[in-house]
Formats: sequence, C-alpha cells, structure tokens
Amino acid sequence: MGKPHAVIFDLDGVIVDTAKHHFQAWKQLADELGFNFTEEDNERLKGVSRMDSLNILLEIGGLNKSESEKQELAARKNKRYVEAISVMDESEILPGVLSFLQELKEHNIPYALGSASKNAPLILKQIGLYEKFNAIVDGNSISQAKPDPEVFLRGAEELSVAPGNCVVFEDAQSGIEAGKSAGMYVVGVGDPAILEGADEYIRTMEEMTVSRLEK
Ligand code: G6P
Ligand code: MG
Repeated sequence: MGKPHAVIFDLDGVIVDTAKHHFQAWKQLADELGFNFTEEDNERLKGVSRMDSLNILLEIGGLNKSESEKQELAARKNKRYVEAISVMDESEILPGVLSFLQELKEHNIPYALGSASKNAPLILKQIGLYEKFNAIVDGNSISQAKPDPEVFLRGAEELSVAPGNCVVFEDAQSGIEAGKSAGMYVVGVGDPAILEGADEYIRTMEEMTVSRLEK
C-alpha cells in the first residue's frame, strides 16, 4: 500500500488478550442464569459491543429478559470484568506490539485506538500505553458499533489522515468489515481460516514491520 500515513489499532485481541477476562465474566453470568457458556460461544462476542454480547449470550441460553433486567446483567458482568482488568499490567501487552509502536514512532507515523470497549481507557492506563496514542476512539464516544465504520473513520479524522492512507489492525470479523467499509487497508490478526475479507493476515503482531506495510 506504500508507506501508511497513520495506523489504527483495535485493542482487545490485538494489543492485549482481554478475551479470557471477558470469557470468565460472561461464563459466571451464564452459570448464575443456569446455562453453559463455552469458549467457542465466546468467539461470537469478539469485537461485539457489551449489550450486543449480552443479547447473544441470552440467545445461547434461550432466555428473554426485559430492558431493565438486561441493564442489571450487563452491569453485573462489567463489574467483574473491571475487577479483572484493574490488576492488568504491561506484562499483558501482546508480543510484537511494543516494538512495532516504537518503529511507528521512529517513522513519524501517528497511531490511534479504535475499540468498541468502554473500558479501553482503563486498560490502556493499566498497561502504560494511554499517553502513547495520538487519538483514542472507544465505546464511550461512538454511536454505531462495528461492523459500522464509524470508530475507524473517527480515528482517521482525529489524526487528520485520509481513510485510504490508514492501516487497521483487527482480530474480529466485525472489525475487519468495519475497516474495509471505512476504505482502509486492513491487516487481520489471527487465523485466516477463521477471518475473511482482510487485505493480509498475520498470526501475531510479531510478524509486522513498517517495511512489510510499504511493500
Ligand atoms: C471489544 C471486545 C468485545 C467487547 C467489547 C465491549 O470489542 O472484543 O468482546 O464486548 O469490546 O467491551 P466493554 O469493555 O465495553 O464491555
Ligand atoms: Mg478485538
């Protein structure tokens, strides 16, 4: 694609592995509601907003809940999730992330966060990266969840870079679709047998360098 003018990172599954903490918190809720929730089920929640995740969970359990009950359940899950992420530290940054961020800095390529999570600021503070991002767009500031491109378009806007000159890193199918609808170059992070529609794939951020993007 040539040298990118900016990079936008998803958070969960790209910078840190929070999926395990989400899984534990959702599983506990499912246990309390009386049904089983598996790691395979958890795959369906990647990149999906909190309320949409709860709706999928309730569908798996075959349950119908009122709006106020859903608010209570989502708050209960989030309380436990926040407890788990409040003890995260920089050791949980995924391999290859820090060296790639350093490389971007050396090339004067700005980078933003584009995450569906309302807990993104807390996580970035816990792992010591909050100050390093040139812009942070998260679940608190968007109205349309991925696969809508809003989160990435806002990131590009905040960096003052045209969408076509941005590279997105995403581990979730909904996020890959959001990046492509935003008109960006998308690198899928994970298993290409599971993910589709990205411009290229890497297994982990360890495989990524600026020179690879330039090609
Ligand atoms: C990310 C994760 C999802 C999570 C969503 C909302 O996209 O991949 O699994 O549901 O953020 O997270 P939150 O922290 O706001 O509940
Ligand atoms: Mg993700």
